[in-house]
Amino acid sequence: MNDKKTTLIEMDNGDEPMSNHSDNPYFAAILEKRLSRRQVLGGSLTAAVASVFGASGMGNLAEAARPGLLPPQVGKPPFALTPTLGFDAIPVTRSDTATLPRGYKAQALIPWGTPITGSRPEFDPVNGNTGEEQEQQVGSHHDGMHYFPIQDDPNGHGILCVNHEYVDQRVFHAAGPTFIDGQRPDDEVRKEIAGHGVSVVEIKKDAVTGEWGVVNESQYNRRITAGTPAEIRGPVRGSDLVKTIHSPDGTMARGTINNCAHGFTPWGTYLTCEENWAGYFVNRTELPREHSRYGVRTTNGRYSWETAQGGADEYIRFDASAKGLDATKDYRNEPNTQGWILEIDPFEPNSTPIKRTAMGRFAHEGAVFAPPQLGQPLTFYMGDDARNEYCYKFVTKARYSKNANGDMLDEGTLYAARFNDDGTGEWLALDINNPKFQAAAAAAGVEFADQADVLVNTRLAADVAGATKMDRPEWGAVHPQTREVYFSLTNNSTRTDESGNNPIDAANPRGPNPFGHIIRWRERGNRSWATKFEWDIFVLAGPESDSQVLPEQGGPALTQDNIFANMDGLWIDQFGTMWIQTDMSGSQQVSGPFGNNQMLAANPETGEIKRFLSGPWDQETTGVVSTPDGKTLFVNFQHPGDRSQPGVFTSNWPDSGAIFRHPGDAEVVPNPDGPRPRSATLVVTREDDGVVGL
Ligand code: FEO
Ligand code: CA
Ligand code: CA
Repeated sequence: MNDKKTTLIEMDNGDEPMSNHSDNPYFAAILEKRLSRRQVLGGSLTAAVASVFGASGMGNLAEAARPGLLPPQVGKPPFALTPTLGFDAIPVTRSDTATLPRGYKAQALIPWGTPITGSRPEFDPVNGNTGEEQEQQVGSHHDGMHYFPIQDDPNGHGILCVNHEYVDQRVFHAAGPTFIDGQRPDDEVRKEIAGHGVSVVEIKKDAVTGEWGVVNESQYNRRITAGTPAEIRGPVRGSDLVKTIHSPDGTMARGTINNCAHGFTPWGTYLTCEENWAGYFVNRTELPREHSRYGVRTTNGRYSWETAQGGADEYIRFDASAKGLDATKDYRNEPNTQGWILEIDPFEPNSTPIKRTAMGRFAHEGAVFAPPQLGQPLTFYMGDDARNEYCYKFVTKARYSKNANGDMLDEGTLYAARFNDDGTGEWLALDINNPKFQAAAAAAGVEFADQADVLVNTRLAADVAGATKMDRPEWGAVHPQTREVYFSLTNNSTRTDESGNNPIDAANPRGPNPFGHIIRWRERGNRSWATKFEWDIFVLAGPESDSQVLPEQGGPALTQDNIFANMDGLWIDQFGTMWIQTDMSGSQQVSGPFGNNQMLAANPETGEIKRFLSGPWDQETTGVVSTPDGKTLFVNFQHPGDRSQPGVFTSNWPDSGAIFRHPGDAEVVPNPDGPRPRSATLVVTREDDGVVGL
């Protein structure tokens, strides 16, 4: 989500509160530009490629898969290390449609409100649906997603898992949100809770028309919402810090909140990542560190769910004030059940989602694994999207095997990244049994009772360990062949040039950083579990006058073909193309040089970048995945028209019917009285049925 969104309830936004007031060691000064490390990063490329495919590589995924599931495929050698980006870049665009290169077409799939389960109630764009109906429909604000192919027709039949990050109340309710004597009507709260979470949807391509649609009465279709029961596993299970009146033994939680980016596992499950959950809670008593370091509110929750008129337990739990004799008598610990990675098995519709606490608690943006190797630990990379927070990785204790399953995620080591100014980096273990961590905590005067305490307070643990404050880490991507890791750093308005609170450093070299950059690293020895790495910057985004590709190699500035800002979604596909998605604020889209939010394609090796598509008004482009053959690309447009007021819309996509256009066609302007905008998935294909992007 961007920096500018507000709700009607209070003026401050619910996003990315700056709550890192730690006194980390900073790099004293920025010295001259470092020597090129690209030799180090790229020197062993050929050997690295050979080892990935020669030793084990992604082929192992097939062995680990269960019947019915076809795991994601990657190209077999010779792998396209230099994707061709064989399309004409589209210009900067402001049309209330998708804009696609010539030769491409698109449809809109599963917009918010699409009926998928139960009695499959139809979307009501005029009067709005009830909470009960929303529980049977696709949620709002599509974000991270993954496509799980089904074996009978992997390129035309699969399960799409889609995150629903939040709701815009002005668009979500027919007449906006309601307060009655300071309280929210129960059904509005119920509906908003159901608008959050995840949709699991079986989809199929029509053999005749080529159009994708929902498989009705699918055994897999499912909604997981901000109220769905979830089990707590890993070191935090049973901790005093997660005991509530609802779960006095600290083993169960309810719901998943603000699901931004995602991940998936080699064993075919979906990971949904809880990002800006803190603002949904209010604590009017003294805030413990596990609330204050994350930005739990002190006046009211983001949507005031805690004020629901009927006072039902499932709603008042968002008030985390200490009220009872101890934690098992109230909801003071309810916020501690959020901020995790939640594992969902899309092939087991009755399974209980599991909070994997060993992977840490923060504003989780996403979780992407390094190509698994048989007999070695499995590594997931994760970002904490708030200003001056950290990059993390989780390395499993268990070795990867063809029998791997989610239990692997319950034991391992969580690390935070330190980016040294000389281009080296270090992974800092956040492990109560690690002597370095113990010494750092002692030196900082910070005590942790046990590993559960470390994990509930992951941000504090990373402060103590001395991690590098980053410019809002969003999605990461791992190159499936070279294993290089790329991370979006979307922007940072609180990093400063001078000796301010958050001075620039080599890894975050602009302050303030309104446009963001992509950083990348390679693990020492190309082993994802290494504790040392080398890094460089892939691109400094921005206008032509303030941007550069591969700055350490003296690369070019961006041009009209590829200027962009505030990268968020990031994915490297099975053909080696890196997809970059933007989340610029509304004002940046209206008056900046970049046009509407967009998706670009990049060649990670050469630094070539081309604008591939742009979306309708006021949306962010987020979530991208393809079928295994690369011929169908799924892309989410989240919150089109998010500057709307009730009944006065700043986008009408997709129900305007104008789904896409090509450069040169007339731009579509929104009609304030036109259809209500809806988040939806754009399905992009080539008219000649080729691979998208190549
Ligand atoms: Fe939900 Fe960090 O974007
Ligand atoms: Ca964002
Ligand atoms: Ca995001």
